Amino acid sequence: MPDNTALTYAKESDINDPLKNFREKFYIPFLHNKNAIYFLGNSLGLQPKSTQDEVLNIMEDWASYGVEGFFYGKNPWLHYSKQLLQPIAKIIGALPNEVVLMNHLTVNLHLMMISFYNPTPSRYKIICEAKAFPSDQYVFESQAKLHGFNAEDAIVEVSPKAGTEIISTDDIITAIEKNKDSAALVLFSAVNYYTGQVFDIKKITAAAHQYGMVAGFDLAHAAGNIALHLHEDEVDFACWCNYKYLNSGPGAIAGAYVNEKHLQHKNIKRLNGWWGNDVSNRFKMEKTFTPYPTAEAWQLSTPPLMLLAALHASLKIFEDAGFENLLQKQKKLSAYSFELLNDINAENKYFEILTPQSPAERGCQVSLAFHQKGKEVFEALSKNGVMTDWREPNVIRIAPVPLYNSFEEVYQFSEILKSIVTSN
Ligand SMILES: Cc1ncc(COP(=O)(O)O)c(C=O)c1O
Repeated sequence: MPDNTALTYAKESDINDPLKNFREKFYIPFLHNKNAIYFLGNSLGLQPKSTQDEVLNIMEDWASYGVEGFFYGKNPWLHYSKQLLQPIAKIIGALPNEVVLMNHLTVNLHLMMISFYNPTPSRYKIICEAKAFPSDQYVFESQAKLHGFNAEDAIVEVSPKAGTEIISTDDIITAIEKNKDSAALVLFSAVNYYTGQVFDIKKITAAAHQYGMVAGFDLAHAAGNIALHLHEDEVDFACWCNYKYLNSGPGAIAGAYVNEKHLQHKNIKRLNGWWGNDVSNRFKMEKTFTPYPTAEAWQLSTPPLMLLAALHASLKIFEDAGFENLLQKQKKLSAYSFELLNDINAENKYFEILTPQSPAERGCQVSLAFHQKGKEVFEALSKNGVMTDWREPNVIRIAPVPLYNSFEEVYQFSEILKSIVTSN
């Protein structure tokens, strides 16, 4: 039997990794005179070396053409975002006409709720996960208030069973059934930011639809991390950011998805801006708004070209690597992380693994809860060149990602962690 916890296994896995050369395409942070083990792809993905050139192309066209860069140059700005729709649609399992790149995640969540949260006096509740990311909680609360509802009454949170952090699909469906006459919207994250749990998008959407509710998802921790099939699963809308697994830089331009079936609704409620006006009409400067026949109808403003260029650089890498290949490596890296972490805990339990053990319910992220000295462990990891993420009150999150992390890094991390927890 090969020993999957040995360094030789990690080294061999790296040698046989068809994606091993992709690490070279990224800048790896340098800490304490060596390359850091960067396990923060779930927070801010690393910078592709090609990003600066892609952004520079825009700067050069701006210098050469001024405003005429919209029509001339290497990649005229007027239609720049079009080339990004197909690659990003592939990653989230959508059709290109269902995708728009605009704004930031929280802004897009608000814009989507303007269109898809249509409460009536009797049907107004929003069903979501307990401990959703705080920005999402503020969005739900402010949207409920905007419509004149009391947030405490309007927001139904589905909690994990006592003693666990994982929310069962059955409990989500029960909450939907219980509120079948009073809920208007079901809005979950696809991957919970704290535990790394992957929610069952297909089942949640089907249950919401069965009782006449709209189903939306926040893909912040899912886009570029796990396989998504938004169109096939008939999700109504979704939003995501591109700075985590999609490596497009701090404050990157975000995305939104609107299911094709909603694109034909002439009277859909939407906040309009001139960039959502069909391009054939946009520059006539007339009063009439003719919505783009795609999700781009939701675009309000002139797109930020430098941010689109950074996303462009990243999506080229995803295209070259092949998202299917990335998902395969992600599964192997994640299985390897679990194997080594379970091994550390084999005799003495030093931490709880909050993330589900089942591969179908997890992506890159693993969340470790420490009952004591968690902050010290986090700081010791950092001193040893391992960059992880600390979430109050007691959780260390790691996310080994397939584009630039190696099996050997996972091995080294587990050895460092073992020596910290066993000497504490
Ligand atoms: C799940 C989730 N939702 C929303 C946000 C907020 O994103 P933004 O600051 O881009 O609006 C984040 C940020 O990390 C997040 O993780």
